[in-house]
Amino acid sequence: MFAQRVGKEAALFVPSGTMANQIAVRLLADPGTIVLAGRRQHVVAYEDGAAARNAGVQLLPLDDRRGILDPVDVASAVEASGYHQPRVSLLCVENTHMAACGAPWQPGALEAVRSSAPGIPMHMDGARLFNAEVATGIPACELAGPATTVMSCLSKGLCAPVGSVLAGPRDLIETARVERRRLGGGMRQAGVLAAAGLIALEKMTGRLSDDHERARRLAEVVAQCWPEIGFDPGAVTTNIVVFSPPDAAGLLHHLRAQGVLGGAIAPGVVRLVTHHDVDDEGVARACRALRQAGECT
Ligand SMILES: Cc1ncc(COP(=O)(O)O)c(C=O)c1O
Repeated sequence: MFAQRVGKEAALFVPSGTMANQIAVRLLADPGTIVLAGRRQHVVAYEDGAAARNAGVQLLPLDDRRGILDPVDVASAVEASGYHQPRVSLLCVENTHMAACGAPWQPGALEAVRSSAPGIPMHMDGARLFNAEVATGIPACELAGPATTVMSCLSKGLCAPVGSVLAGPRDLIETARVERRRLGGGMRQAGVLAAAGLIALEKMTGRLSDDHERARRLAEVVAQCWPEIGFDPGAVTTNIVVFSPPDAAGLLHHLRAQGVLGGAIAPGVVRLVTHHDVDDEGVARACRALRQAGECT
């Protein structure tokens, strides 16, 4: 079902999004070569150096302030192999981009990056690809079209208790099955978990617009409370609000005391995420707590 949704030949169920990314890197990149990705992407910043450890690759982090990569940066990294620098064997993008307030890629931007690395495979970390589908109105299969492989998380906004899926060409996914076993991800119990995943794909993508609308409410309050930080609520088009308040630790402590669980994703950087278990009343409570902390009415 996932393969169909993202327009690929085959797909594989894996225990986590991290494992899906790691399998893709092992399959598509060569040891001793460069993997290009944005510096705040999950595969670079939040997988404990796994790509280096598991696949023997060198990650070359590129600027991804707005969540997308610049085709000029990609082309320049590819060209650098002609100047005694390692060859680029893989390009990774993240859609939506978590640290950039869950920003979705527009197909034109993705195509431009793709063409700046001709002949080089692309892996899409689409942990929240269906949020991108809902926010842009563009079907997931079109969003993932330029990618060789694409992964999505069935947990997170899609509400499954566990699991992610990796899709791509049939022969590659057959090899992915072997890599999954090597990483300890082969499970005799996969059926019960995948059953919840089917519900995630069939019934839970439609509700993501509620999460987006609620995140937008949080974003407006953040912008009102701390105008000095230059936070643009318009940057929030999916379910994630990332901002740097004057006192991140103090704010998180205050929110927790009000029963609002935010997190920090980097020093001084706060993340609020909306999901199925955060309803209108929950968001109203979070807005009140933010206003108190920001001393704004
Ligand atoms: C963009 C992105 N990719 C991958 C992952 C990894 O997913 P998991 O936590 O299932 O390993 C996450 C998890 O937060 C993520 O945000």
